Amino acid sequence: MIRKLTRQQLICHINLPIFSIISEEADLLGRECYVVGGFVRDIFLDRPSKDIDCVTVGSGIELAERVAKRLGRGAHLSVFRNFGTAQVKYRGMEVEFVGARKESYSHDSRKPVVEDGTLEDDQNRRDLTINDMAICLNRDRFGELVDPYHGMDDLEAGLIRTPLDPDITFSDDPLRMLRAIRFACRFGFKIVPETFESIARNRERIKIISGERIIDELNKIQLCERPSVGWILLQRCGLLQIIFPELQALSGIETKEGRGHKDNFVHTVTVLDNVCRAEREAGREPNLWLHWAAVMHDLGKARAKAWDEKIGWTFHNHDYLGSRMILPIFRRMKLPLGAEQKYVEKLVLLHMRPINLADEGITDSAIRRVLFDAGDDIDDLMTLCEADITSKIAEKVRRFLDNFKIVRQKMVEIEEKDRIRNWQPPVDGIEIMQRYNLSPSREVGILKDSLKDAILDGLCANDRDEALAFLDAKWKEISNG
Ligand code: CTP
Repeated sequence: MIRKLTRQQLICHINLPIFSIISEEADLLGRECYVVGGFVRDIFLDRPSKDIDCVTVGSGIELAERVAKRLGRGAHLSVFRNFGTAQVKYRGMEVEFVGARKESYSHDSRKPVVEDGTLEDDQNRRDLTINDMAICLNRDRFGELVDPYHGMDDLEAGLIRTPLDPDITFSDDPLRMLRAIRFACRFGFKIVPETFESIARNRERIKIISGERIIDELNKIQLCERPSVGWILLQRCGLLQIIFPELQALSGIETKEGRGHKDNFVHTVTVLDNVCRAEREAGREPNLWLHWAAVMHDLGKARAKAWDEKIGWTFHNHDYLGSRMILPIFRRMKLPLGAEQKYVEKLVLLHMRPINLADEGITDSAIRRVLFDAGDDIDDLMTLCEADITSKIAEKVRRFLDNFKIVRQKMVEIEEKDRIRNWQPPVDGIEIMQRYNLSPSREVGILKDSLKDAILDGLCANDRDEALAFLDAKWKEISNG
């Protein structure tokens, strides 16, 4: 519930020793000083925030230095002379100090030309009305709200709007287009038509923004309660086509002989929301990488799509094709290339396995295989697969979910019995090479895989002696053949 607060109520929210010190030091310097931006917005939203932005009319660095000195040993000061800003860390809080600025941006870069300015100038250059409120910290006006663009009214009405003509605000810093969408998604607000149309008009300008800054915003969208809202807005304004064309390619329905397939973009973002809901219901922290796996799980469908006269639309092999797309996408989008990329690739590759199991019969060996391939990520894989059931036919959903329950139960039983999750076969490749006097070659791979398959299929016991006997027989077969 968002409500207007009186000056007295606002004072209660900023009644912290750190604000008193900033207030006193600003008064001693004879400078205006305000707390601005997200911290003020979050007071009204009742979301406690530890990141505080202070604007002063004059040097932010000088004020920060004096505040840090007053706070004494517990405070840590960092000065960024190039940017004219300074940060004070104190008891878990981070206070950024910046001098009020007037900025104008050159057309082909985000680098602003900065001049000193007044509070009014500073408020003119901010992104959204809801992020553009300031509370005065000087003693005689302590707690006074300065809200020239009626951010408070927009907060109450749930509206995202730029303070100035949106074409100016977005063209100055195109990242703000993503920020507008991120805030709409995070708070469930509506972007006013004028602002949204401007995003669509200025979308190409996003190309001057670095991949790292874009992914930072996308990650924040991914961690919202319903990220689908953000992805759908990105799709509607045309930004998706520029920053993530592979996801855009899933959008739309094709019909042939009266048969259409589902809109795979809509399906994908529904799966993502389902994953988020499942995490909340299970009391789990949101797993950003599971969210990325959900967004990417069907990317292969655009390439795999085919028409079969008998069956209709098919997407054979889309899991494999999709998994091959993950590395280049991670690279291009500046997502991390280590364990996170491998995790997403694995879940995309395996995401059809549990559903096929539930469909085609649940044999012990099939369960062992999926446990082996998924390893410790088996629970996340199951969460993704359950979220993947987005059919509107209640009976179908119930049948699949019932089957998944059986699969999960079987997994527990087999894991208890066979300990497959982090299992390795009892004879490794090195021993195989020594035993049969082989150098690294195709034969070593064949022997290794056939042993692993035989154990997972229950044809050979998970025991060293039996494994060696199995390998000897297999080697005989290969070397004679
Ligand atoms: N800001 C801006 N344009 C940007 C980034 C930031 O105008 N591209 C302004 C906004 O007034 C914003 C403030 O700088 O409120 C602080 O930015 P930041 O800390 O990035 O975001 P917050 O709004 O505090 O949001 P969050 O809760 O995500 O930290």
